Amino acid sequence: MLKQLALVLLLCGLALAEETYDGYKIYDVKTNNPLEKQLLYRLSKNEAYDFFDLPRSLDAPSRVMVKPDDQVAFEMLLDKYHVNFVVVDENLGDSLRKTSEDNQRMMNMRSAGRSISFTAFHRHAEINAYLDELALAYPSRVKVEVAGKSYEKRDIKTITISNGDGRTDKNVIFLDAGIHAREWIAHAGALYVIHQLVENFAANSDLLRDYDWVILPVVNPDGYEYTHTNTRLWRKTRKPISASCYGTDANRNFDFHWGEVGASSYSCSDTYKGETAFSEPETQIVRDLLLGLSGRGKFYLTLHSYGNYLLYPWGWTSALPSTWRDIDEVAQAGAAAIKSATGTKYTVGSSTNVLYAAAGGSDDYAFGVAKFPISITMELPAGGTGFNPTTNQIQGFVSETWLGIQAMAKKVVQKY
Ligand code: ARG
Ligand code: ZN
Repeated sequence: MLKQLALVLLLCGLALAEETYDGYKIYDVKTNNPLEKQLLYRLSKNEAYDFFDLPRSLDAPSRVMVKPDDQVAFEMLLDKYHVNFVVVDENLGDSLRKTSEDNQRMMNMRSAGRSISFTAFHRHAEINAYLDELALAYPSRVKVEVAGKSYEKRDIKTITISNGDGRTDKNVIFLDAGIHAREWIAHAGALYVIHQLVENFAANSDLLRDYDWVILPVVNPDGYEYTHTNTRLWRKTRKPISASCYGTDANRNFDFHWGEVGASSYSCSDTYKGETAFSEPETQIVRDLLLGLSGRGKFYLTLHSYGNYLLYPWGWTSALPSTWRDIDEVAQAGAAAIKSATGTKYTVGSSTNVLYAAAGGSDDYAFGVAKFPISITMELPAGGTGFNPTTNQIQGFVSETWLGIQAMAKKVVQKY
């Protein structure tokens, strides 16, 4: 009895423990030939190494986070194969503490009347409150609905934005963010799109004439909250799988070539595909929204970070869909708009061809099953050493992202 109690307390302790990332290092690894890249692909299968970015391109560096205990072996291995690397963060724990203090401070300085700002990363409850504030302030153009509940019973809300003309048969652009918990700039990006379409309606009304927008800014609220309270770099959902391993990679959980490639069967892995396809309430919600929009849905855009990519199907095979030129045209328009505005470069191409093969993604599902003709994953830029932009980087990133989204949406509206 006592023993059992002790065990329960221990497990709870483990579950509640904060990950401080003290002593964790972040490396940039520069490969010079395919063999060296191959070595990195092999290392990426090892759970000890968290590859933040692992681009296909030979000359683009790969970024990887390594725990204190694994650093010696890691560096020795790279040295042995004469692979060049630099340490870009000597102690991630220190960096994260600084960005978190910065965020805490900025969170309290909110602009009047709204629960969020673009000078801090806000909590899920504040984001939901913002959506409700918009519904209240703009009842003719905004509808907020609870699409369902997360595993931990948080409300997953969508905001449907129209121009208020009462037409109900319009095409739809569906945008989501936050499939991955730690990619905070993506959530902020979706909020900025909402802000523009609703609170800056006059300037963007052309994007709402023949289209409605449905936006789901936080697909994975349990994970998102967990990154605020416990483990800043948590990626997955939070449903327990085994006694010690939690969560599924929602972007490996969609039922389209599920589990075929680039997804793990190991429940502790960051790319765990789930017990079954659509094992997670969060992915079921996105599935049902996508299927519900089938026919009207022309553009599915899902925001992630990081790496500056505009990715399109397929993610499960290196083959391209027959209509890839249409998607490429839209993505290129986004990349060009951003390039000319700020000089920021985005790589455009199919997920498998420019990044890596990974099946079970929401983009492949939207395109392959829900029949959205345009389906794109946008990987926003890195901030800080990757997932931890400072609060003063938010405004620049989200407004730049909006220019790209605007350009892509314009193309879609023209085409369909
Ligand atoms: N970084 C994203 C992920 O790993 C890329 C997803 C691209 N799409 C895909 N179907 N593989 O989830
Ligand atoms: Zn992601």
